[in-house]
Amino acid sequence: MSFIAGYKEYQNIVENWLDSVIINHSSFRTSIHEAMEYSLMAGGKRIRPILSIAVNDMLKGDRSSVTPYAIAIELIHTYSLIHDDLPCMDNDDLRRGKPTNHKVFGEAMAVLAGDGLLNLAYEIMLADAVKDKNNRLQKSETARLIAEAAGISGMIAGQVMDMEAENRDISYEELCIMHKKKTGALIRAAVLAPAVLLDAKEEIRTNLEVYADNIGLAFQIKDDILDNEGSREIVGKSVGSDEKNNKATFVSKLGIEKAKELLKSSVEKAVEALKTIENNDFLIKMAVFIAQRNK
Ligand code: IPE
Ligand code: IPE
Ligand code: MG
Ligand code: MG
Ligand code: MG
Repeated sequence: MSFIAGYKEYQNIVENWLDSVIINHSSFRTSIHEAMEYSLMAGGKRIRPILSIAVNDMLKGDRSSVTPYAIAIELIHTYSLIHDDLPCMDNDDLRRGKPTNHKVFGEAMAVLAGDGLLNLAYEIMLADAVKDKNNRLQKSETARLIAEAAGISGMIAGQVMDMEAENRDISYEELCIMHKKKTGALIRAAVLAPAVLLDAKEEIRTNLEVYADNIGLAFQIKDDILDNEGSREIVGKSVGSDEKNNKATFVSKLGIEKAKELLKSSVEKAVEALKTIENNDFLIKMAVFIAQRNK
């Protein structure tokens, strides 16, 4: 099967899971369900849950055990996008090819839709961990890993650094730390979650960590490049947003050519890290896809 066909197959699995998640949650719908679903079902690339399923497949895990954690990560990611677009943050009007959540539902509802998605993520993970007596420890540890990645030493820390860097010149080292937290942390959790669930050997975990850190870096470098030279129609979100907001990015710090060189070398490092693991084909191609994508 070609990489694209495999990716589409994974994407369909994720879409089906997500489609039922909010509907199944409550017996009656209110405006908050609508606002949450609007952003969740707007057609993201689903890179993070796809990474979790693909790593789980590579390690020969049972699909159903990774499902709640892959869903939770996409819920957390979607909440972060809604909040990232708010007028008090990046103030953007287009996301996943549609008007941003606050443009449609208003700022207060957008804040609450983000909060709703975040809390639903923990509810789903904890409900799963609690009911499984045999694997409770690994499942709780997986939920903890995801919470840490999304929290104040991971994604939120990165968003804070991103905001504070709008008004001052940051060093290259700080920029790398910011990217690692802002985007890298949740991607790292997506890659490591199946390894924790399956209690994978230390050697495999270490290689997966190197893979995850490098695709995480590559992902945000590419995001910065697309903001600079991508098209609004294809990317499906506001481009030129970083320059408008005076953001510190790899493009503003290094220039576009050097950013592209760094992107290439991080993909090479990611690919190298998986060399000794069996069934690595899809994930190797995924690293290349992250660098070559046009949205
Ligand atoms: C965009 O993430 C935000 C960043 C973390 C850079 P994605 O590019 O994965 O967005 P979707 O999920 O496909 O919309
Ligand atoms: C945001 O980074 C990362 C998040 C944690 C949401 P960006 O601000 O660069 O993401 P985009 O470009 O708006 O998707
Ligand atoms: Mg931002
Ligand atoms: Mg943004
Ligand atoms: Mg961006």
